[in-house]
Amino acid sequence: MANRVRILFALLVFAGFVSGCGCGDSDPATPVDAPDSTSGFMSAQPDDVALREAATTHPGDWLSYGRTYSEQRYSPLSQIDEGNVAELGLAWIYETGTIRGLEATPLVHDGVLYGTGSWSIVFALDAKTGHELWRYDPQVPRSVAASVCCDVVNRGAALYRGRVYVGTLDGRLIALDAKSGEPVWEVQTTDPSRPYTITGAPRVVKGKVLIGNSGAELGVRGYVSAYDASSGELVWRFYTVPGNPEEPFESPALARAAATWKGGRWWEIGGGGTVWDSMVFDPDLDLLYVGTGNGSPWIRTLRSPGGGDNLYLSSILALRPDTGELVWHYQTTPGDSWDYTATQPMILAELEIGGRQRRVLMQAPKNGFFYVLDRETGELLSAEPYVTVTWAKRVDPETGRPVLAEGALYGEATQDILPGASGGHNWQPMSFHRDTGLVMIPAMEMGMAFALDPDFRYRPGASNMGIDTIVASTSIAAGGFGGFLLAWDPVAQREVWRVPHRRPWNGGVLSTAGGLVFQGTGQATFEAFRAATGERLFSTPAGTGVVAPPITYEIDGEQYVSLLAGWGGGYALASADPPDETLASGNHGRLLTFKLGGERKLPTESAPKFSPEAIPVTADAALVKAGFETYHTWCVACHGPSAIGGGTIPDLRMLTPTRYTQFEEILMEGALLERGMPSFEKWLKEEDVDALRAYVLERRQALRVARSAESAPASSATAN
Ligand code: HEC
Repeated sequence: MANRVRILFALLVFAGFVSGCGCGDSDPATPVDAPDSTSGFMSAQPDDVALREAATTHPGDWLSYGRTYSEQRYSPLSQIDEGNVAELGLAWIYETGTIRGLEATPLVHDGVLYGTGSWSIVFALDAKTGHELWRYDPQVPRSVAASVCCDVVNRGAALYRGRVYVGTLDGRLIALDAKSGEPVWEVQTTDPSRPYTITGAPRVVKGKVLIGNSGAELGVRGYVSAYDASSGELVWRFYTVPGNPEEPFESPALARAAATWKGGRWWEIGGGGTVWDSMVFDPDLDLLYVGTGNGSPWIRTLRSPGGGDNLYLSSILALRPDTGELVWHYQTTPGDSWDYTATQPMILAELEIGGRQRRVLMQAPKNGFFYVLDRETGELLSAEPYVTVTWAKRVDPETGRPVLAEGALYGEATQDILPGASGGHNWQPMSFHRDTGLVMIPAMEMGMAFALDPDFRYRPGASNMGIDTIVASTSIAAGGFGGFLLAWDPVAQREVWRVPHRRPWNGGVLSTAGGLVFQGTGQATFEAFRAATGERLFSTPAGTGVVAPPITYEIDGEQYVSLLAGWGGGYALASADPPDETLASGNHGRLLTFKLGGERKLPTESAPKFSPEAIPVTADAALVKAGFETYHTWCVACHGPSAIGGGTIPDLRMLTPTRYTQFEEILMEGALLERGMPSFEKWLKEEDVDALRAYVLERRQALRVARSAESAPASSATAN
């Protein structure tokens, strides 16, 4: 049963506390002891030609993040089709050994599958058998978890000339030898004294490795960097927002941008605009498109009190890949105050629009409008809402700007707004089903209650969104609530079909020439649909909730479909909406690979059942209330609203009784730091810890009461 009332509306928030990770200095690249670090580099595969021509020359591989440079996630493989997809079965399983979120797109080249997992681990497997060839753990200090808004995830690696490139949660970029998994070079791409992290996949373009970063919830300045793939040297860096205007700007583009920031001292907090996910290269136009994120803080009033568009927040930027020079920009959400990032995956395609063949870029960013841009110029061709949108009335086709709805610019008074901060679509990749011409979007409908935090002050290293997190995480926003696979006609800008899912947070999408669309779901299934109609043709248990996108590849004439299953990501931590299946059997992080007639079975296991022993609640109401507030400031982003866990991080109502006596050690002394539980020594006082314990125990008692009420009538009907 949907637990609507309890569900947190999309608070991809987090309360961070500890800054820095003590993880090395910045620049230059450190060559790691590898005697043959460059030998064979120039001749090894896949090279630039392979990456550029992947669509035609590598039909059975998955060479880069979105399969080809256009990032359509469309595979020409058609052995698995509408007629036989029901015969799909598990070919093999790889246990990643982690229990946190898995978001990566695996890559396949030459019979080897390269994947990444929680804490930025990298693994190479025989793509036919799942046999592990090597595994590389970059040893990310677990204390970094405190600077992560949305789980300790990684969205994938890049392959180039015999190397595997991966960004790590603590801000490093590492080149590994694809054969051995040995590091060749590594470079710190961020300032470790600021709360930067990396979760996105690098891309390789013309001998350069491109990497962005995250951290705008805590307070950083966004940028994208290009490193020489061979040596790890920094080639260029493009900052997405201006720094202190009293200092020289790094580029003319930033001098222009600075005129759109008014008042305030945004550079102290950082300004935001992080490039935390989407980057797409167009070899024909020699343009690199990057999507930028929200502001730091979220609300314009707090970072640019005089108004303005705050360029280049929430924008699509077209850069020259050789120099990082800005060629054009299109801002989807001028003056963003809603966490409406434009970092969502972008797809390049050619579409016939108004009788003309256009080279387009398509994006369904968080703000709820589906954009079709002319990618040569950045001209807006069309933008229509693909989910319910209440912050803007429409996008004006003349100006290319949204027309704000009344109340969209919220202040201290609570405003229910759709989409919420999770967006109408988040990082989960969409795909372009070329044969039907439909874009398949893992969409969601979730409002959120926004209110400015009147007591906002900058706390370096902590969460600095500037919104009232208690309001956001405990109130019920207006509008619908749900998730669905949406087939969208990008030319007519209209919905063609939709398949509703039980929860909003589902997996990315794969399209194939077999007339199919594949998606894993938040209800712990892996499914396939007829691309033309959305008819469900296949569904199988995935063991745990799925958020990652599937890929497909072919080896020895046999087609495989593969995906990571591991419930997680911001929604999973902060939603109190765990899949029942995940709760029942635990969150086992696995790579599942299917083929026709596959006969492997998922292991069946069950998590220990919890029956909370009574612990007397002695605290007074005032202490519980204080605990409620502290909890929803510092704990909600990982342990869930009202202390209801999301299925991956412990539910604080269900601990063994002695645990409640160890709060001091756990919260103040960092007893569980190495397992990803931050220390709050810098932020909390002893009385806060008492209040937190009182609140959590009160919630535990409420759970006991609810459980006994549930089981009372049932107990007469069942034997035990
Ligand atoms: C950045 C995410 C994050 C935040 C924020 C966070 N925790 Fe945790 N917490 C974790 C993780 C991960 C674990 C599990 C560690 C482990 O596996 O032992 C954990 C474990 C715990 C445990 C021990 C649970 C057990 O199974 O014994 C307690 C108690 C706890 N947290 C309390 C809190 C409180 C109170 C707050 C707010 C002040 C908080 N946490 C904030 C991530 C977080």
